[in-house]
Amino acid sequence: MPFRKDFLWGGATAANQCEGAYQEGGRGLANVDVVPHGKDRFPVSMGKLKMTELDNEHYYPALEAIDFYHHYKEDIALFGEMGFKTYRMSIAWSRIFPNGDEEEPNEEGLKFYEDVFKECHKYGIEPLVTITHFDCPMHLITEYGGWKNRKLIDFYKRLVTVLFTRYKGLVKYWLTFNEINMILHLPFMGAGLIIEEGENEEAVKYTAAHHELVASAWATKIAHEIDPENMVGCMLAAGNTYANTCAPEDVWKSMEKDRENYFFIDVQSRGAYPAYAIKELERKGIEIPFAEDDKEMLKNYTVDFISFSYYSSRLTSADPEVNKETAGNVFATLKNPYLKASEWGWQIDPLGLRITMNALYDRYQKPLFIVENGLGAKDELVNGFVEDDYRIDYLREHIKAMKDAVEIDGVDLLGYTSWGCIDLVSASTGEMSKRYGFIYVDKDDAGHGNLKRYKKKSFDWYKKVIASNGEDL
Ligand code: BG6
Repeated sequence: MPFRKDFLWGGATAANQCEGAYQEGGRGLANVDVVPHGKDRFPVSMGKLKMTELDNEHYYPALEAIDFYHHYKEDIALFGEMGFKTYRMSIAWSRIFPNGDEEEPNEEGLKFYEDVFKECHKYGIEPLVTITHFDCPMHLITEYGGWKNRKLIDFYKRLVTVLFTRYKGLVKYWLTFNEINMILHLPFMGAGLIIEEGENEEAVKYTAAHHELVASAWATKIAHEIDPENMVGCMLAAGNTYANTCAPEDVWKSMEKDRENYFFIDVQSRGAYPAYAIKELERKGIEIPFAEDDKEMLKNYTVDFISFSYYSSRLTSADPEVNKETAGNVFATLKNPYLKASEWGWQIDPLGLRITMNALYDRYQKPLFIVENGLGAKDELVNGFVEDDYRIDYLREHIKAMKDAVEIDGVDLLGYTSWGCIDLVSASTGEMSKRYGFIYVDKDDAGHGNLKRYKKKSFDWYKKVIASNGEDL
């Protein structure tokens, strides 16, 4: 049997994409709330368009999302029925500290997650908790400028201390920042950054990244001190970059592209800024604001495991003319003629998952955890059922590739949680129609629908995959 006996099969969601109830239980406003659906979504996410409050001209899908806040018992029961061993979810920071800088946490928010975790355990589901998944209390952005301000490290330390203390015994697996490398692409989501005129955008992003990296090291330290059983992971938006041709310049370019992403995990897992990044930052004239003990913190408190999302491989060329032709996805990539793509242009490459797993395992030699993978597709609900064979095909091929990485290549893998196990709001587009789930939720892109849940064909398929520990695909 390729997978460990205790392999953690499950599914993943994020608070801002499923919880809704944005004003309930004392929750404060967060960046993710003010990211609208429609043409302004991307500029806001990229920190290029300043939106810090709600208006009547836009539709904000996170405000209600799929209302997991009120449906969590029903949803977790469905996860339990599928046989989930783990459920990856995130904490909304502004439920615990509505403004982010209070001294005392909000009990109602803490209680909500305690109930959710207890509900998971009822079904033998181990929670896997992302501390920050693209969210930041709005007050920390308007008052402090988000993660570019070092003070955020202290607020984050306060947050994690509360979480690790309160949920000791209920939660063991923690991820510090979702897709930490996304800060370079969606800085408003990744770090609450709004790029002001005249600012050196890259310097702002790397300063914020430094603060997150240091905060992540602190979280690891605090987690282990509060409970030595705690396992803390980093989280990378992964997918190796291929060279467009075998021209050495293209190969070099693909290496540079991968390093943009590895940089974060090199720090979190190896404990120091890698040489290539130090040189590159120097060349660009970017000075990272290292405080006295930052280097020690990074060195002493590296992560226990490497988690990552994988949707696709990437492709690049050294020729700027060729590189203009990008395919879909947040990460700019060339169209790979050997691959098919989803309706959103995300290229489908199961073998790329095996390549990525091997690259990460070779580099870090720590257990891996695939915490996102899946196909965003348009589903048709007919008589209360969705025949989503395309989703089953996608997942089957990726699980096969991951099995090869474990069985043939010897990669140590802790678990697999497919993305959006229940339909939820898309992070990049704000759509509901970009569905990933085994469970269909009755809601459309304009916010209409009765939020009723329906099992798709993939529901029973995944149940069988879990029951057979990945043998019956
Ligand atoms: C990852 C994020 O980037 O990809 C998720 O961690 C996101 O939050 C997922 O939802 C899929 O992307 P999208 O844009 O299809 O929702």
